[in-house]
Formats: sequence, C-alpha cells, structure tokens
Amino acid sequence: MDGRRRGRQRRGRLGADAPARGDLIISSQRQDTVRRLAAPDIAGRKGKTPIVCLTAYTAPVAEILDAHCDLLLVGDSVGMVVHGLPNTVGVTLEMMILHGQAVMRGSRTAMVVVDMPFGSYEGSAETAYNNAARLMKETGAQAVKVEAGETIAATIEYMVKRGIPVMGHVGLRPQSVLVDGGFKAKGKGAEERRRILEDARATADAGAFAVVVEGVAEGLAREITETVAIPTIGIGASAGCDGQILVTDDMLGLFEWTPKFVRRYADLKAEISRAAAAYAEDVRARTFPGPAEIYYARAG
Ligand code: KIV
Repeated sequence: MDGRRRGRQRRGRLGADAPARGDLIISSQRQDTVRRLAAPDIAGRKGKTPIVCLTAYTAPVAEILDAHCDLLLVGDSVGMVVHGLPNTVGVTLEMMILHGQAVMRGSRTAMVVVDMPFGSYEGSAETAYNNAARLMKETGAQAVKVEAGETIAATIEYMVKRGIPVMGHVGLRPQSVLVDGGFKAKGKGAEERRRILEDARATADAGAFAVVVEGVAEGLAREITETVAIPTIGIGASAGCDGQILVTDDMLGLFEWTPKFVRRYADLKAEISRAAAAYAEDVRARTFPGPAEIYYARAG
C-alpha cells in the first residue's frame, strides 16, 4: 500500500480529531516521511473517539496491526507470551530494545510505546531517564511506559521535563506480581480503591500523556476516567475508559487460558496446530514437497 493511501486511511480512523496533515514526522527508522501518531495526538483524544491499542513484539505482526491501531505497545508481556517466562520480572532492557526495533520496522503510522522493564526505572529518576533515553534512541519509539503510582510520580515528572513522553500503568501491575502473590483484580476494597485513584491522579499530575488502567472494577475505571485529564486505556477495566488495549496473542487465541476480560477474535492455536498436523502428514507420506515445490535442472 502506498504512503498516500495509508495517510487517507489514518485520517479516516481519526475522524474529526485528526491532527492536520502537514505536521509530518520523520521516522528515525526509515528515510521516508510518515505521519506517525505521537503523545500529543493520543492525549488530545481524551473523551473523544476511543483509542485503539494492541501489543506487538515482531515486525510482521506490527505491520498487520498498524493499519488498525492508534497505538502499539511493545509490552513487557513479551517475556511471557514470546519467551515463555512465568511473569514479567525477568524481562531485560536488551529484550525490550530488540522487540521495540522490530515493531518500529514493521509499523508506519501507529504510535509505538515501549515498556520499561522491571528494575530499569524504580531505583532513581536519573537511572530511569538514562534507560528511557536509551530505549528511545535505539528503537525510535515515541514514548515509554512505566508501572506507575505515587512512588514513581517524581520519576515520571523528571523524565517528562527532560523530553521523554511517559505513559503510566495503574491498578493491576504485573511487575508487582511477586509482592501481590499473583495476578489479581484490584480495587475491590475501599482503601485499595482510594490508593489506585491517587496513583492515577499522581501519574497525570506528573505529566504522563495517558495511563493504562488494568484489572479494576468498572466503577473505579469510570471514576479514574472522570477524574484525570489524560486518556485512560483500559484492560480488564470496562468500556468506561478512553481507549482499550489487549495482549494481541490473547485475543488471537494462542493460549488455552486467558483472563476473564479477554475477548477472543480468532483461534490461532487450533489453526496453527491443524496446519502443523497437515504438514507432518504430508512429510511422512512423501507427498511434500510435490512437483510444483521442487527445482528442475535446465535441459541439456
Ligand atoms: O506488557 C503489557 O502487555 C502491558 C499490557 C497488559 C497493557 O502492559
């Protein structure tokens, strides 16, 4: 698809909220001019057309999703869904850089946000800034995401003031799984509810351009959305948010077990298994490769 058609598609999706054509951004990954969405575009969608987000980890999948999404998150969920880790705690900066580079190469118009992995931002604001700057320089992504809250607010402010767009993540925070003792929905009790609302408020006040709200009761998600001036991106947090995100591999049905909040839009696990079984049968029966799938020597 040529650049002009892509541009038309993008404006169609954004509708009336679309930024004017003309403020072109030169991607650091490609030499051609592309209109990639950036933090101010997403922030400007508060209370408007819902923001469509999915996770992406590879170039070919990013290329498919790019035409449909406003924002692609290179989530540290990559550790679990691609690398088979039990949680996201073992994910490294190097893993995020490699996957971030792949997603930038595959996409053209969606905003790309890269997760800061566990241990790369909690120690000090300066360490967080240095690691975020490295992520952005080496991937070309437009922003980073941190699992936020009152304790990280000063770090968010430090990074934003020095030119790094930051997205927050409140509610169920997967990097805290070892403290919490599992992936559990949050905000069921009054005290936890108050704390999550304060986390979201502190994240917005610190200058984040958007905040992911994960695994909280519907009423709390709506309250956060009504309280903070930045867009809320829900995952397991109801349609009351300004946008939605899912882990792509979950919604494609690549796993047997998925959380309650995942809607499956495909059954790729069954489809891949069916294809592999058919291939194995053909190899064993020597019907693959067939005449159309082999090379022939030139006559004479
Ligand atoms: O890592 C990730 O995929 C995420 C989403 C669940 C929002 O943080």
